[in-house]
Amino acid sequence: MAKIGVFDSGYGGLTILDAIRKELPRYDYLYLGDNARAPYGTHSFDVIYRYTLQAVKYLFEHDCTLVILACNTASAKALRTIQQNDLPVINAERMKELKHERVNVLGVIRPTVEAVPAITKTGHVGILATPATVSSESYVLELEKLAGYRDTEIPECRKLVITQQACPLWVPLIEAGEHNGPGAKYFIGKYLREILAKDPQIDTLVLGCTHYPLMKERIDNWLEFRHELDESEFPLPVDSPKVTTIAQGELEAKSLADYLRRHSEYRDQLSTNGTCSYLTTENADRFSQSASNFLASPVQAEHIDLE
Ligand code: DGL
Repeated sequence: MAKIGVFDSGYGGLTILDAIRKELPRYDYLYLGDNARAPYGTHSFDVIYRYTLQAVKYLFEHDCTLVILACNTASAKALRTIQQNDLPVINAERMKELKHERVNVLGVIRPTVEAVPAITKTGHVGILATPATVSSESYVLELEKLAGYRDTEIPECRKLVITQQACPLWVPLIEAGEHNGPGAKYFIGKYLREILAKDPQIDTLVLGCTHYPLMKERIDNWLEFRHELDESEFPLPVDSPKVTTIAQGELEAKSLADYLRRHSEYRDQLSTNGTCSYLTTENADRFSQSASNFLASPVQAEHIDLE
């Protein structure tokens, strides 16, 4: 019987894992955080693709038939190549070894994008993400596709105005456990101020990195009280709209539940003991401690090497 693998460069995928386990508690999960090589978001395509493929193969070799890339950067930079080039080879090799269960990899960007049209009222949408996700333009392309397909059904989304903002220091803050500290306030304000200055009519901000929900409360707090900031510090029109932030956990969980309903060939292979194991490429004690804090329940991780 098989498990569901959940992969991220570090701690961010825990926000997805947590939501998936709430939605689908009976399955068995294997989480892998490549903390030793995080952040991925400042690496090139080749490096992100190579690291992601190593992690995906590791999870397949350790009884996972489905792997969720709980990482936007890996989804943006590696998912399509893995699906198109690597999975056919991996599945053919498995057949030769008489392992008849097919394996598959799913990403987080599409389920997130699908939620946007129902949330924005102004049609002005902001994407907060890592530099790699921003440069891939994955969100822009997917949102434009969606708006095009749904042209007649959702008239207010006919002309989505999409603005992206790279937030290169948010993942390092979270990986270092500094996101609740006093220094984080400056960097939270810095990127939010930059994106709202580019488009003050934004009413929907996608947290397009799975790490960011770990500081969603602080992001929402900054947005709610932004008009009380010193005018010289934050010269935005006071009539700019209320901003809703979108986190991906529940969206990804619902999308996976729907996928498993439609794909009995994967669902029927999954074991159902409700367990979850954790792997990290960094120090296991450090991961266990931080993950226990993020999930508010005890985690005992094991160290692995991917290279
Ligand atoms: N959680 C990853 C994402 O969703 C973070 C990427 C990184 O390591 O920079 O993009």
